Amino acid sequence: MKKSRKSELKLNDDIRIIQYLGSKLQILDDISKEIDNLICGEGIVCDLFAGSGTVSYKLSQKYTVYANDIQEYSKVITKVLLHTEVSDINEKIDINCIYESIYYKQNKIFLQDLFSDALRYEQKILDSTDYEGLAELCELNLYYDGSELASKQIPRAKEIFGDAYDCFSSDFVQQMKNRSDVYALFTLYYLNSYFSLYQCIEIDSIKFAIDKLLEDGVLSEYISNLFLACLIHAVSEIVSSVGKNFAQPIKVVNKNGEIKTFAIKRCMKDRKMDLKPHLVDIFLRLKKLDFHKNSNMVFCENSLNALLLDEMKNVDVFYLDPPYTIDHYSRFYHVLETLVKYDYPELEKKKLNGRLRIMNGRYRDDRFQSNFCILSKSYSEFELMIKRIHSLGASIVLSYSDDDSEKDTRKRVVSKNELVEILSKYYEIVNVKTLNHRYRKLSAKDDNRKEMNNSELLIICK
Ligand SMILES: C[S@@+](CC[C@H](N)C(=O)[O-])C[C@H]1O[C@@H](n2cnc3c(N)ncnc32)[C@H](O)[C@@H]1O
Repeated sequence: MKKSRKSELKLNDDIRIIQYLGSKLQILDDISKEIDNLICGEGIVCDLFAGSGTVSYKLSQKYTVYANDIQEYSKVITKVLLHTEVSDINEKIDINCIYESIYYKQNKIFLQDLFSDALRYEQKILDSTDYEGLAELCELNLYYDGSELASKQIPRAKEIFGDAYDCFSSDFVQQMKNRSDVYALFTLYYLNSYFSLYQCIEIDSIKFAIDKLLEDGVLSEYISNLFLACLIHAVSEIVSSVGKNFAQPIKVVNKNGEIKTFAIKRCMKDRKMDLKPHLVDIFLRLKKLDFHKNSNMVFCENSLNALLLDEMKNVDVFYLDPPYTIDHYSRFYHVLETLVKYDYPELEKKKLNGRLRIMNGRYRDDRFQSNFCILSKSYSEFELMIKRIHSLGASIVLSYSDDDSEKDTRKRVVSKNELVEILSKYYEIVNVKTLNHRYRKLSAKDDNRKEMNNSELLIICK
């Protein structure tokens, strides 16, 4: 009983499709209150850095919302949360139609046949909770074009993969990229890192079914987005990484080649996870979402370009939550971006010991580098953004959080004082509000739960 009440609350107040770094889930009411103070009655709010879409969804309960983010996965999520497509959702729509479709079945059979030896081998390891076997798979580095497989591991890789060993070549990746009758991206790119081989096959086959059913007109634009958002959620839940993002897969072996006990147990648990319960759970919750307006819009633009769109002339308040550290979001969520784009990207390489190596995180080569995260560019990027918003005649609610050594937070690329300096050049009233949330956190220093002060700020400009 208690559990269902909690999920009801989650459903309408703070829907979270992905765990997102810098998510403003905790301060939704504060943001909403400040926007209420700026808008009398009806109005349009633009969430210019929408990320996980939680702020956009909250604001859509009162206002028309324009959501923008440079990342494609954010677009999919916010389109669902803001209900921008015509919805034909009804009681009969069931996510099981994916599993029942011929496309899901065909794709899965194709990949299961191709990787039959390796799949059988993996299943044995997972069934018997064989930590050493799993560690060996994690360290094998046979993926993508095969260039990261050490020569001494070739015989073992051939033993495990059998004929499928030859799939890991540039030619094969290219062949798969050119085929529209089968999807194999996750299987070729991410096996034995963020996911198991079996999980990759599932992800590829579900994505294939969603795309094909849309192409056939069996699924509407809205329902296919909804299913894709569910897949984004499920992939984020089962990923084997610290913090459930995609910056690095869990490293299960230390420098001396010894298995790390905690990491391998964690990895085993993640690898055994089934996508389906996560897909079904989020689907049932999204299906019951409340929708308040049908004039919302979603954009996927660099923020400075978004501000030049005609639609922005009608915005009353911009909610700004840009990144403030040197960490690019595209590094943490590149796998979700690739899931949505499904474009078999080149993988990023870095020079190591005189040789170009694919990085451990298997990042896409073209991932977006935000000027807000670059020390030499962030100040002028902020200045131009504020100047453009001011010329649109709109007010601003801006989120900022100070770095704090006690919380091991990353250094900010722009300081609070610099921000206030920029804002004050354009706005007469610049009001800095500190949100007084206290919460308990495990202290890295002494292993005790400590009361911490939330250093979230909201800066209101009008
Ligand atoms: C702090 S997060 C926003 C979190 C969001 N408020 C939430 O609660 O989920 C910052 C977002 O800005 C996006 N971003 C970074 N640089 C951008 C740019 N130049 N244009 C548009 N979006 C950008 C990132 O993709 C990321 O989703």
